[in-house]
Amino acid sequence: MKKSVITIAAAVCMAALVTACGGSQTKTETTAAAGTEAAGGKLIMVTNAEFPPYEFRDNNEIVGIDADIARAIADKLGMELEIQDMAFDSLIPAIQSGKADFAAAGMTVNEDRKKNVDFTDTYAEAAQVIIVKEDSAIASPDDLTGKKIGVQTGTTGDIYADDIENGDIQRFNKGMEAVMSLTQGKIDAVIIDREPAKVFVKENAGLKILDEAFTEEEYAIAIKKGNTELVDKFNTAIKELKESGELQKIVDKYITAE
Ligand code: ARG
Repeated sequence: MKKSVITIAAAVCMAALVTACGGSQTKTETTAAAGTEAAGGKLIMVTNAEFPPYEFRDNNEIVGIDADIARAIADKLGMELEIQDMAFDSLIPAIQSGKADFAAAGMTVNEDRKKNVDFTDTYAEAAQVIIVKEDSAIASPDDLTGKKIGVQTGTTGDIYADDIENGDIQRFNKGMEAVMSLTQGKIDAVIIDREPAKVFVKENAGLKILDEAFTEEEYAIAIKKGNTELVDKFNTAIKELKESGELQKIVDKYITAE
């Protein structure tokens, strides 16, 4: 009698487990920083995991340069890390409302964003580049005048595209969706960050990246405005990761030298 109750309980547990694991809707993922007892509590990171090699999904896990850097920082601070995935343009509001402690999302530092969040020291050089079809007549940023241009909503690509004379800007939730639209001939070009551009062009035949970048920029982690204590802690950790070569190691894991 007792045995069968346990068996039923186990079966229910299993079912619950399967649902929990199999649900593709599971957007939250918790990783205890290795070797610590989460002495300093939990850090909630938000990102938009549609941005390889900085953040993307491998099975149901969020991986990439930013995820690894965040795990390394949390590890140094002795804190547990939880990563939540959301739309790119929801990241800053999530920090402002206190729902998240920080955003690591290949986020470019700019003056406008600085009004709403504080940034750590930068950890990567980046650029906005232009993707076109291999046989496109578009050869430089100047040729974008009057063209249909795809961008990911709320990104710096979106902001810069706005300045293009007579540009017809098409906004997508994911950079990859803009690239698909280009492949289908619905738009003329995509403005997006260089490293994701390389990944998307590799995965989709018939596309190329123009040599001339649209803009140069830098990535940093965004933290709630005024939380200088956390910014200082992150900066110390980032400095250590740079000096120890650990940061470069993370980059090399995801970006192979050409
Ligand atoms: N660097 C660009 C920006 O800050 C794009 C970042 C997009 N990141 C992402 N995880 N989707 O606006």
